Amino acid sequence: MSNHPLPVTKYSRPARWLHWSIAALLILTFALGVFLDNSSTDSLKFLLIKFHAPLGTLVGVLVLVRTYFAFKHPRPLPDPNWSALVKWASKVTHILLYVLPLALVISGIGIMALSGLSEMLITGQTQNWPALNELLPRTGHGVTSKLLLAAIVLHIAAAIYHQRIAKDNILDRMR
Ligand code: HEM
Ligand code: HEM
Repeated sequence: MSNHPLPVTKYSRPARWLHWSIAALLILTFALGVFLDNSSTDSLKFLLIKFHAPLGTLVGVLVLVRTYFAFKHPRPLPDPNWSALVKWASKVTHILLYVLPLALVISGIGIMALSGLSEMLITGQTQNWPALNELLPRTGHGVTSKLLLAAIVLHIAAAIYHQRIAKDNILDRMR
């Protein structure tokens, strides 16, 4: 995540495409996860996991591709008018927006493997949804999803603040 000395004013085209594709897919995967957690019938849970797990895995792959471009292409430097605290907070939030989705994919795969869900889906034995609450990766998935939600809310609030109040047009770096 090093800052490049080149004076670019925008993120590279692949970085911009990846940003908006990941944002849309991540929000969709998140919503499906909440829906899955709150659905009361086993058949609906099995249906939803068939979308939630592959979409979440796709997000993980795209985050890895994005990590490659983050190091390969120069990125715009933080605005010199920002205080050290704002620069630090923005950097930490951006790093969390890379790390937390990857942690969700790892814990998600852990849930599927330890609960027998992946085996059930492969063999078609999808009558009874297994008990997941006792599983460590399930607890980790729940906690990580809440942290990710907080990071996304903070990130979007910061984007709105920059656009509407600071009026420094930071959105143009990502458009
Ligand atoms: C970045 C990707 C992902 C996001 C944002 C995400 C988000 C969520 C959320 C918000 C929940 C509900 C958690 C709660 O309220 O406690 C959830 C549950 C779950 N997710 Fe994910 N998830 C992701 C990836 C995955 C992957 C890749 C898998 C499987 C390979 C997976 C499997 C599950 C399972 C099995 C549940 C539990 C449902 C239940 O307890 O009924 N997730 N996910
Ligand atoms: C409506 C929603 C969103 C808006 C308006 C938005 C806006 C922006 C803007 C303006 C930047 C550039 C910041 C800068 O130059 O310092 C940025 C960067 C970034 N955004 Fe978002 N964003 C949104 C959703 C998301 C979501 C859901 C994620 C979750 C992965 C995300 C992850 C990132 C990351 C990691 C960066 C740092 C640049 C990079 O490494 O690609 N954004 N966003």
